[in-house]
Amino acid sequence: MDKLLITGGKRLSGEMTVSGAKNAALPILCAGLLTADTLTLANVPKLQDVATMQKLLAQMGLSVKVSEGVTELCGRDVNRLEAPYELVKTMRASILVLGPLLARFGEAKVSLPGGCAIGSRPVDQHIKGLQAMGADIRIEAGYIHARAKKLKGTRVVTDMITVTGTENLLMAATLAEGETILENAAREPEVTDLANLLIAMGARIEGIGSDRLHVRGVAALHGASHAVIADRIETGTFLCAVAAAGGDVTLRNTRADLLDAVVDKLREAGAVITNGDDWIRVQMSGRPKAVNFRTTEYPGFPTDMQAQVMALNCVAEGTSRITETIFENRYMHVQELNRLGASIDIDGHTAIVNGVPRLIGAPVMATDLRASASLVIAGLAAEGQTLVDRIYHLDRGYDRMEVKLTAVGADIQRIK
Ligand code: EPU
Repeated sequence: MDKLLITGGKRLSGEMTVSGAKNAALPILCAGLLTADTLTLANVPKLQDVATMQKLLAQMGLSVKVSEGVTELCGRDVNRLEAPYELVKTMRASILVLGPLLARFGEAKVSLPGGCAIGSRPVDQHIKGLQAMGADIRIEAGYIHARAKKLKGTRVVTDMITVTGTENLLMAATLAEGETILENAAREPEVTDLANLLIAMGARIEGIGSDRLHVRGVAALHGASHAVIADRIETGTFLCAVAAAGGDVTLRNTRADLLDAVVDKLREAGAVITNGDDWIRVQMSGRPKAVNFRTTEYPGFPTDMQAQVMALNCVAEGTSRITETIFENRYMHVQELNRLGASIDIDGHTAIVNGVPRLIGAPVMATDLRASASLVIAGLAAEGQTLVDRIYHLDRGYDRMEVKLTAVGADIQRIK
């Protein structure tokens, strides 16, 4: 199992290029199931989760070709309408095949995802929405069996805002008969990116970027070309790394307007952040100031940045309060950060972080993707060496993070 050995205390300076968004690429790859034509995709990040999704789709008969930074999908020969437990258990986003398969083929068998390190994460809203559209859904032997001769448009109000739930129902609605209205829809930029691809494929969607998506079903979708949006969480992670370790770094191929809430917090912490249309520069000198925040749905502060900004607060001046409202158990990094000398207490859904002048490197264990990123940030800010174990979590969602950080002066090595 690979590990990362980080020698902290180095200032970061130079340029980094941000990859395409994992959480946009995953639903966009699944949209390849909606058409018999070819989708040509640019800016698909090279990550473990993307590889897992490509493997799952290839097993279904979708042709997947990757060359010179372009991913080509062709759904002409899709014939296996099943997502097996072996793959779904490694990646919950596999549930995103359910809507497209059901809409185009009238049938799907998808394993229930099961437990997760950050919370219980049920998929009841995906099921409820598809049932409202006329699907017959049974849960048998750990699998969701869904059938519908033809999905019918309807009004769906989800009990809570769900990102992949919105994406699944949106994809299903594009090929349903009649009009579907998705109320309480997620407004995350990744949902918008998927909607823009679907429109390029011939879908009729209004209300993009709002919490009410109006879809008029069409008989078939066609091929299209699309470039995946920048990864706002990778962007935020690197901004945090610079804010914690100090330095002057320009991030290319990304957009500040995708993460206003995070940029605002980092400015409050003392970082100087400037940006153009496709770049962001962050400059940090001195010790950060502690910042309070509460995670919420977009455009609020993203849960996927909670752990990283917590790492920054660990070395900040002052005490901060962080409240996690999206997932029930997303504090697995707290004990590991405390191993580095941080002072964090948990009180229900709130973490109280007493900033300390310095962290001291130690061996720590990654527990999930964003927790891993927080440990890397803490390691960059700490004195001495931090060894981060189980970085397969990191590789699921970051494209060669250690290579990108090394290029701006971090001392970070992958140990096989
Ligand atoms: N929920 C339900 N029932 C459902 C669906 C969701 O109770 O049917 C609950 C969840 O348990 C959670 C809340 O609703 O408490 C929100 O979950 P959501 O469905 O929005 O999360 P997701 O779609 O499973 C995506 C991202 C996550 C990100 C969340 C929240 C993808 C592939 N994953 O997950 O990304 O944290 O939205 O923004 O888009 C990550 O990249 O590290 C990651 C975990």
